[in-house]
Amino acid sequence: MMVLDTPEAMRTWSREQRAAGKTIGLVPTMGALHEGHLSLIRASVAECDVTVASIFVNPTQFGPNEDLEAYPRTFDSDKSKCEELGIDAIYAPKPDSMYPQGYATYVEVERVSDHLCGASRPVFFRGVATVVAKLFNVVEPDRAYFGQKDAQQCAVIRRMVHDLDFGIEIVEMPIVREPDGLAMSSRNAYLSDNERSVALNISKALFAAREQLDAGERNAQTIRELITAGLAGLTIDYVEVVDADDIQPVDRIYGPVFIAVGAWLGKTRLIDNIAFTP
Ligand code: PAF
Repeated sequence: MMVLDTPEAMRTWSREQRAAGKTIGLVPTMGALHEGHLSLIRASVAECDVTVASIFVNPTQFGPNEDLEAYPRTFDSDKSKCEELGIDAIYAPKPDSMYPQGYATYVEVERVSDHLCGASRPVFFRGVATVVAKLFNVVEPDRAYFGQKDAQQCAVIRRMVHDLDFGIEIVEMPIVREPDGLAMSSRNAYLSDNERSVALNISKALFAAREQLDAGERNAQTIRELITAGLAGLTIDYVEVVDADDIQPVDRIYGPVFIAVGAWLGKTRLIDNIAFTP
């Protein structure tokens, strides 16, 4: 397994693979790999001739008062996990090779970024779209793999790939949950035992909402109220029912939607969602 740390080295390796007729899968990550990431890696290894995982804690997607410094960095154990799963290359650039002195170009994906995390984290999707576009340009993958836990991120990337003619297949994989329902996240590492049990209220509330949806409820306000009532102990950022494609809030559920929650537990921000199609 190669570990490449500059855009030039990454592009040279990728082009060699392509010249040898191989398809390339990319799994973009910020490291601190958990089962959610590993499910993306397994899918890529199964479907592509070679797989690259990028590991880069991307500064441009963190706001000034967010957890950039505290974000878990576990490169050695991430590397072992990648090796075990049969990854061919890790791309782990340094911040100044991604954003050298004088860097001035950003990708903004309008509309899809307006609500949910986009409303409370103003620079987040600009940073995500920018870094993912840069990864796509350097790795030139055939397919790129993302987790549906960040459903809005998936929608932003799909929109960007379509609008900017990237010609890359975006593969979205289901949310991976702990046995008790908690959605896997690198930020779960911040939670104390007590906070972790409070965090479970998010998935419990979403599963209760799913029961109501399965029973025929289609009023978004009713679903929002049901979930909000279940989020004891958390500070709610948003509870929203949005169209699955353009991430705009809906009043009634006629087509595919995401029911999405963003909430704070102390200093930890957690997100989760369920997809529903009537
Ligand atoms: O989902 C993440 O871990 C990040 O937002 C991504 C896509 C790797 C971009 O930094």
